[in-house]
Amino acid sequence: MTSTGDRHSPPASRRVLVTGGAGFIGSHLVRLLVGRGDAVTVVDDLSTGRRENLDSRASFVHADVRDALVGPLANETFDQIYHLAAVVGVKLVVDDPLNAIEVNVGRTSDVLRFALTAGPNATPAKVLLTSSSEVYGKGTASPFSEDDNVVYGPTTVSRWCYGCSKAIDEYLALAYHRQHGLPAVVVRLFNTVGPGQVGDYGMVLPRFVNAALEGRPIEVYGDGAQTRCFCDVRDVVQAFPALLDHPEALGRVFNVGSDQPISIRDLAMTVVRTLASASSVRLVPYADAYAPGFEDLRDRRPDLGRIRSAIGWQSRVPLDRTIRDIAASLGAAQTPQGVAGGSR
Ligand SMILES: NC(=O)c1ccc[n+]([C@@H]2O[C@H](COP(=O)([O-])OP(=O)(O)OC[C@H]3O[C@@H](n4cnc5c(N)ncnc54)[C@H](O)[C@@H]3O)[C@@H](O)[C@H]2O)c1
Repeated sequence: MTSTGDRHSPPASRRVLVTGGAGFIGSHLVRLLVGRGDAVTVVDDLSTGRRENLDSRASFVHADVRDALVGPLANETFDQIYHLAAVVGVKLVVDDPLNAIEVNVGRTSDVLRFALTAGPNATPAKVLLTSSSEVYGKGTASPFSEDDNVVYGPTTVSRWCYGCSKAIDEYLALAYHRQHGLPAVVVRLFNTVGPGQVGDYGMVLPRFVNAALEGRPIEVYGDGAQTRCFCDVRDVVQAFPALLDHPEALGRVFNVGSDQPISIRDLAMTVVRTLASASSVRLVPYADAYAPGFEDLRDRRPDLGRIRSAIGWQSRVPLDRTIRDIAASLGAAQTPQGVAGGSR
């Protein structure tokens, strides 16, 4: 384990493991946790995460989750484990479904088994598992509630294996909770966006912001009328420790996200407007963007009643601020609008 942290700081109250802590959401979570005084260890293989995302106050294990748990972390104890490491997003999954299934299901199983005895004196550590709104598959009963039925396409269409792999993760966490008393919480994240997110793996908002900053056409897949709800990552990560600290949240699944829908075409126009870009908006058929027969969902909006009544959580950061902050994080400080300076 390499430690870049200050070992002279006072003893921290909590020992916390974050898998995927060099990734987009993980790095924001680590910043929050070290900020409240936790002793944080990050494990990440940097497959999509970035070294520059690492917080210097956290210890870092550069390894695959499985190797880390049987190697450098085998004898470590943790009070809390946040499991974010995964192959994320439809594009990566369509490109390499085998790896996505093996990582998403296999590593979650490893983490949950490890957590059973990872606490002090071989007690269970609390675990938060990041699942996805993709678990709802192509259900149409928007807004989606945690106990709704889920509906997937055929197994011959690899697009659905991301949602299915996350659903298996949820089954695993809930089974460990029921059968072994593991204190586990599942969060189903809807579209999470914010500074530090990159467009390389098909994430829609940084892809749009990149195109807008470069004055290229913004490519909207399909007819652009499909709607999504975008929530700033700095709001999203606030919910994680609050849920783990709430005894009634254990053994339950929570939607986390915004419940304000926007069509993807309007999102593109909002990016253009917010960044005062000269970009046009171009529609690209799904078959060209992904693969022939690709199925997308029309609408995906969470019912947030459960998390609101449990911990009173709600999102606060407005979309235009998120767009400006993404632009700033992509190095857009010198655009005509000076977007970095106008972020609040
Ligand atoms: N970003 C979103 O909108 C969104 C939506 C729903 C769910 N999620 C979930 O949130 C979590 C974090 O997603 P993100 O957007 O930050 O993605 P990300 O790709 O930035 O983060 C994933 C991290 O996990 C690491 N990783 C992957 N496989 C690993 C392995 N085998 N061992 C060690 N590290 C590994 C990657 O290097 C990366 O740092 C994921 O579980 C994802 O499914 C994200």
